[in-house]
Amino acid sequence: MSDWVSVAAAGELSPGASRVVDVDGTTVAVFNINGEYFAIEDVCTHDGGELASGVLDGDQIICPRHGARFCVRSGEALSAPAYEPTAKFPVRIENGQIQVRDDRWD
Ligand code: FES
Repeated sequence: MSDWVSVAAAGELSPGASRVVDVDGTTVAVFNINGEYFAIEDVCTHDGGELASGVLDGDQIICPRHGARFCVRSGEALSAPAYEPTAKFPVRIENGQIQVRDDRWD
C-alpha cells in the first residue's frame, strides 16, 4: 500500500489556493475549495498541460493550454478538447497536515 505524503500544514493552503507536490513520482495538484481539500494529477488528458497553473473557477480548473475544464473534486473532464478524466487521489488531514496518497496501484 502506498504511503501518505504531507503536502502542507492545513492552515497553509487557503480557500481557492493550490499546491503542486510530487507523490511517488506523480505530480499532484492539491486544491482548497471552500475549506475542503481535493487532489488530482496535475496533467491535462488532452495534451499534458499543467492544470494547477490554470485558472480555478469554483470547483473547476481550466487548462491553461487549450481551455479544457476539469472537476477538481472528481478529476472528470467537463469540456473539450479533453475527454478523459485525470486521476483523482484521496486526501486526509493528519496531525494538522494535509496528506495525499497515490492509491492507483494498491
Ligand atoms: S493540454 Fe489541456 S486543453 Fe490541451
